[in-house]
Amino acid sequence: MRAFPPISARSSTTSTSKQRPTTETRSPASGRRSSNAERDRWNLSGRRYSGRIHPPSRGTSILTLAIDDLVKTFGEVKAVDHVSFEVEEGAFVCFLGPSGCGKTTLLRIIAGLEQADTGAVRLGGVDMSGVPARKRNFGVVFQSYSLFPNMSAQRNVGYGLECRGWSKSERQKRACEMLDLVGLADQARKLPSEMSGGQQQRVALARALAPNPSLLLLDEPLSALDAKVRDTLRQEIRSLQQRLGITTVMVTHDQDEALAMADTIVVLNGGKIEQIGHPRDLYTRPASAFVAGFIGHMNVLPVTRNGSGFHFSNTILDVDEADPGQGDIRSLGIRPEAIEVASSHGANAPRNVVPGEVRAVTFLGNLTRIEVAPDAQKDTVLTLELHGACDIPKLGDGLSLRLPSHALKVLP
Ligand SMILES: Nc1ncnc2c1ncn2[C@@H]1O[C@H](COP(=O)(O)OP(=O)(O)O)[C@@H](O)[C@H]1O
Ligand SMILES: [Mg+2]
Repeated sequence: MRAFPPISARSSTTSTSKQRPTTETRSPASGRRSSNAERDRWNLSGRRYSGRIHPPSRGTSILTLAIDDLVKTFGEVKAVDHVSFEVEEGAFVCFLGPSGCGKTTLLRIIAGLEQADTGAVRLGGVDMSGVPARKRNFGVVFQSYSLFPNMSAQRNVGYGLECRGWSKSERQKRACEMLDLVGLADQARKLPSEMSGGQQQRVALARALAPNPSLLLLDEPLSALDAKVRDTLRQEIRSLQQRLGITTVMVTHDQDEALAMADTIVVLNGGKIEQIGHPRDLYTRPASAFVAGFIGHMNVLPVTRNGSGFHFSNTILDVDEADPGQGDIRSLGIRPEAIEVASSHGANAPRNVVPGEVRAVTFLGNLTRIEVAPDAQKDTVLTLELHGACDIPKLGDGLSLRLPSHALKVLP
């Protein structure tokens, strides 16, 4: 990962301020540098926008982004369905979900590019409902780089500063500083058509960050790039975000991207929140079968329950986390990496061991993925992953799988 040169970023009086070099204090809405007198007029009243934003006063400034019961419908479609959550200042949040689940609509509402039917977006306690997008001082980056084709990289980056009242020399200085920040100091004079996709997206990022935004909003910014550039830029964006301590919301349908980048993931499905949490928690403790299947692969076993335990076909499964008082449990989940190959294979398998036949073997370099059809329930194929140098079974081999009781999860 490359190291980024110093940058003058906004000041903060919050606990995250340690990460930020401090040069100025700004209104979160206008992005203009403010005088002491102006700052003294800021307050925490949370009143609606009335032509001027009143961000929190100095000393108490925590620009928490609060999404409060947002609803947005398009005809019959409920794109956003009573969504509420809060994002702490300095956090990196990903909206993750399948295509059409409402990620972009939610991001556009936050950006002020779409009007919610009901609900509110607050930043630092200030209701942004009536604030037009251009006055919110949020940096936005879309999947398509949306650069002006006839402007150099430097002019593209400086463009947004002109309407914010920055002088020409200030604009040029800032644009150079931002291009340097994204590793493009030597590309300042190039037109977008003379740059690669990854470079263009870096320019778009520099442009979004130039006015010291209060919030960085990214809508699938890496989707149009090839895998290698995507990986590099993924790390660069995360590192930059952490250095600047800028609150960032990124939309993605790519679970790997969300797991690798986010402090918190908001999983959306059909306009509703399925689960919010740290990537590790979502992976280890998915709150629904949807989350379990969307984040990583989860083997789902249909089960019945009686006095002796759970029955998956003719195998009895002990499950550590199942509470006898827990109601109707119909399926259990287990991650591929948690399934073990049992030491012996035969019809009279002990508890938690499922005899089956190898249906597919996929070599993936650092691991081999094996699919096994259980003898007694061939349509519930189980996937496991074998790491490193070990005996790799062949197609058609008999193989018994051990499903450890601690690794079996009750799926709601
Ligand atoms: N401007 C629009 N007009 C009509 N329907 C829309 C509009 N924008 C989004 N939708 C619908 O709202 C739903 C959510 O869309 P979107 O937020 O773009 O999802 P995502 O970004 O998760 O793919 C989809 O069913 C989509 O067709
Ligand atoms: Mg989208």
